[in-house]
Amino acid sequence: ENSIREELIESIRTIPDYPSKGILFRDITTLLKDAKAFRRAVDALVQPYAGSKIDQIAGIEARGFILGGAVAHQLSAGFVPVRKKGKLPAATVEQEYELEYGSDVIEMHRDAIQSGEKVILVDDLIATGGTADAAVHLLRNVGADIVAACFIIDLPDLGGRAKLEKLDVPVRTLVEFPGH
Ligand code: PRP
Ligand code: MG
Repeated sequence: ENSIREELIESIRTIPDYPSKGILFRDITTLLKDAKAFRRAVDALVQPYAGSKIDQIAGIEARGFILGGAVAHQLSAGFVPVRKKGKLPAATVEQEYELEYGSDVIEMHRDAIQSGEKVILVDDLIATGGTADAAVHLLRNVGADIVAACFIIDLPDLGGRAKLEKLDVPVRTLVEFPGH
């Protein structure tokens, strides 16, 4: 609904030139501390999946943990952390992905998902889609059936949504910020 979108947009703070010159940083901490906005965002994200059987929510470190935990609770699903390399104690699967300069690696526990489980991937924001794309590969490696990838914010000009849709992952986002 339109008014919910507007409220969410107003609750997100924009910081110019962070972390580097020319970048408009979309800060969700102002949304998270606004009880009404936080609840509305989580409710809106899960709305299409209410009543369907979702086994696991995979949340991407770090901001995807906050939302993913709330989404998992709301859908009565489990929660699986997708973490930056070196943080998980048991056997992992890992996936490298490209950053603007260089690359990074994310990991997930090898036994976190049972083959065939229905999984929703959650993060706060999709930009280039590099992080989410890597998470999709990890999840499919262990046999996950990815129902959707959900984000509060889409930066459509950076192409992330298109990248995931090419992998046949349905993408759900709540608000868009055009530009970079
Ligand atoms: C941000 C954001 C997404 C990712 C999106 O996380 O929270 O996870 O970047 O970018 P992409 O679509 O271009 O991959 P970041 O890596 O800055 O770390 P954080 O969540 O730990 O703050
Ligand atoms: Mg992140």
